[in-house]
Amino acid sequence: MSIQVAVNGYGTIGKRVADAVVLQPDMELIGVGKTRPNHEAELAIENGYPLYAAIEDRIEQFDDAGLELAGTVDEMVGAADIVVDACPSGIGAQNKALYAEHNTPALYQGGEDADLVDVSFNARGNFEDATGADHVRVVSCNTTGLSRLLAPLQSEYGVEKARVTLVRRGGDPAQTDRGPINDILPNPVSLPSHHGPDVNTIFPELSIDTLGLKVPATLMHTHSVNVTLESTPDAAAVAELLDEQDRLFLIEESFDIDGAGALKEFAMDRNRPRGDIWENCIWRESISMEGSDLYLFQAIHQESDVVPENIDAIRAVLGAADATESIERTNETMGVGF
Ligand SMILES: NC(=O)c1ccc[n+]([C@@H]2O[C@H](COP(=O)([O-])OP(=O)(O)OC[C@H]3O[C@@H](n4cnc5c(N)ncnc54)[C@H](OP(=O)(O)O)[C@@H]3O)[C@@H](O)[C@H]2O)c1
Repeated sequence: MSIQVAVNGYGTIGKRVADAVVLQPDMELIGVGKTRPNHEAELAIENGYPLYAAIEDRIEQFDDAGLELAGTVDEMVGAADIVVDACPSGIGAQNKALYAEHNTPALYQGGEDADLVDVSFNARGNFEDATGADHVRVVSCNTTGLSRLLAPLQSEYGVEKARVTLVRRGGDPAQTDRGPINDILPNPVSLPSHHGPDVNTIFPELSIDTLGLKVPATLMHTHSVNVTLESTPDAAAVAELLDEQDRLFLIEESFDIDGAGALKEFAMDRNRPRGDIWENCIWRESISMEGSDLYLFQAIHQESDVVPENIDAIRAVLGAADATESIERTNETMGVGF
């Protein structure tokens, strides 16, 4: 019997998670939740995904738009083994009572507070911690990118201290209300940014300081990373370690990829759906050691790196596979890894 998955919130993250669920041999997408009949609701119908209304008073609007509903989100949650909440930040917290009422385990996204849930999740960092938990948060795009990078460094060399400056995109391509438009903002201006404490929800003991900026770009985030290791490997050894990891993509010098624009082009040329890049993209040439200090640059595709993590979190929560098995299955079915 395959895992019956509901996706509540069919926007940037939700539509990608829904597509990824459909690719899994051990899962079935029972439906997606929407508040209104816009082009994304049309897309769900076109894809053959049962559509459920999140707000009962608006059922008529779907009828008027000629979009057939399968029912209400309440009914969808009742029929699911697990629900992936991909609603805007803060709405997940409002939905928690509904999921609890139906006794349906729920995954939330990185926009929700860590204290909403029993466990914050990253597949490489703490897969097993989520097993049997009712409320689990798949950490944000940036925290996912940092966790994937720090996990192998920690286990292979030990991390004395990580210092990361995150140059963050102002908004996603469709977020017309976001900025800055022509500025560079220290954001937040006081230290630390929330990312360091968020990494500590996955690795409680890790010493990490993070600083954030926002720039007028929509493509990807870029991290400038400095990690003081507890040993002194050479740069080639670190590169080899990172190269061996799932979901870390080392950009070769010969590719002539000089930034996020070229990375997106690279992904689109390889027919990635929506130009998605599920992997951390680390410039191999940037991997440098100065004594025990490691330096590197990585780019993170904010709209998609959490998608395979959501799929793994479903299996982790339900105890449907161990970490290695799940990560391998997700990567294979989605085509993760260039
Ligand atoms: N985008 C990113 O870069 C990114 C990366 C990592 C994590 N996240 C996190 O993922 C979560 C979702 O973000 P997103 O970027 O996917 O947001 P989004 O693009 O705005 O999508 C959220 C969707 O939820 C729907 N929605 C709103 N209220 C709802 C409700 N009560 N019930 C059901 N659906 C509802 C909205 O569609 P309708 O109102 O039209 O139905 C909207 O399309 C947030 O926690 C965010 O922090 C985002």
